[in-house]
Amino acid sequence: MHAEHREQWGTRAGFLMAAIGSAIGLGNIWRFPYVAYQNGGGAFLIPYLVALLTAGIPLLILEYSLGHKYRRTPPSAFLSLSRPTQFIGWWQVIICFVIAAYYAVIVAWAIMYTGYSFDKAWGDNPEAFLFSDFLRAPDAPTGDLSFVGHILVPLLVVWLITLGVLAVGVRGGIERANKIFIPLLVVLFGVLVVRALTLPGATDGLNAFFEPDWSAITDGGVWVAAYGQIFFSLSVGFGIMITYSSYLQRRADLSGSAMVAGLANSSFELLAGIGVFATLGFMAASAGTPIDELATGGIGLAFVAFPQIISNMPAGELFGVLFFASLAIAGLTSLISIVQVIVGSVADRTGLKRVPAVLIVGGLTALVSILLFPTTNGVHLLDVVDHFINQYGIVVAAFVAVIAVAWVLRQLEPLGEHANATSAIKVGPLWRITLGVVTPIMLGWMLWDSLRIELVENYSGYSGGFLLGAGWAVALGALVLGVILSLIPWKRGRQVAEEEVQA
Ligand code: ALA
Repeated sequence: MHAEHREQWGTRAGFLMAAIGSAIGLGNIWRFPYVAYQNGGGAFLIPYLVALLTAGIPLLILEYSLGHKYRRTPPSAFLSLSRPTQFIGWWQVIICFVIAAYYAVIVAWAIMYTGYSFDKAWGDNPEAFLFSDFLRAPDAPTGDLSFVGHILVPLLVVWLITLGVLAVGVRGGIERANKIFIPLLVVLFGVLVVRALTLPGATDGLNAFFEPDWSAITDGGVWVAAYGQIFFSLSVGFGIMITYSSYLQRRADLSGSAMVAGLANSSFELLAGIGVFATLGFMAASAGTPIDELATGGIGLAFVAFPQIISNMPAGELFGVLFFASLAIAGLTSLISIVQVIVGSVADRTGLKRVPAVLIVGGLTALVSILLFPTTNGVHLLDVVDHFINQYGIVVAAFVAVIAVAWVLRQLEPLGEHANATSAIKVGPLWRITLGVVTPIMLGWMLWDSLRIELVENYSGYSGGFLLGAGWAVALGALVLGVILSLIPWKRGRQVAEEEVQA
């Protein structure tokens, strides 16, 4: 019966805005420029585009169809597909729980750095400032989890906003927040890119970024990187798109929406690459440092290289505010989508109403996040958890999901028909081949490639014990917990099964 009462997006544009808000995140701003640069520059765009067309958009269409057809969040959608696959949905929920816990703290850092930009609080050694003064991190992980007050406070704010938005609901909360944040992000980031392009040295940066290294095309690792980037950046494989599409109206253009979301995400990503490299070009020209020494990814790019550049730039304060505010907004809209997977899934399976679900499960996610990550060892923990949950959480869960849907349950054809019934662009054999063959091969290869490296060297030089506890245990724990949760006879589970028998 609950299907009739299900929350819905107000408009198609509202849904698209939310889907794009989920896709555009930290992955676009700090991951893409570096990954592209490291993997052949301009030549990387070819594997990247192939990955978008042969895996990203087809998977988006699949996830949209799954969520839309069953109108349920991942555990219930997989349960409706076939009872034994329910664990895949719960596995994705736990993966989202883990990602949300640390993703939120990066948004909190970005908020603090937006403020620091005004007086360039990092001084003339942003690296020392970041690790000693801001994060208060020891060189190597220790067991100390003392709170760092100036990270704890913005983190509390991040969680209050996230849970507040979710408590208001899909239409009044998530849709409205994205309708405000995404245009704001585009304006802020657009101004930043224009400013970056007018800096002296910008062209050198762009040349370094786009200069194609054609030999990269024949390097398997470059293809693995392209597919990896597309999965993370589009938010496919962790249940978000199943969740968001479960709130769509009956008549919704699924494949058209997937095209729009996929292309919007990649356009923003390219814009981020241009903005970041134009800025690095300026730094290279003014400090005489070669671009390849400046180009880093993740924390190094945003919280070390950028502060350095901001300090050296005329009106750098404004540039800093634009950059860190963009990072915070992009991260916040992605965080909202990740937490909605957890909240929506528990609500669907237990019958809990929205607000209690937000308070209980959203609150639990926030609690874990607050206890572990705004602490002295938070950054080490974040680094390892992020690596392992991406490589052995999202990638493995996506691999298992496509194998189950395409090969074990042979559901690609009915799901494709479902998409075609309401979509302008029809999917056919090509779509099924990309999902049934190309995607599993690429995911399997990605997995093999990272395992191979993992077994010869400890990730980032951390001790085996730390990697075991914070990395492997978390990634494997997500799967085990997913299986356990799928074995619980939830109230709603019986209801879903009964509905199926009647159908
Ligand atoms: N898709 C989100 C990002 O790029 C998770 O950060």
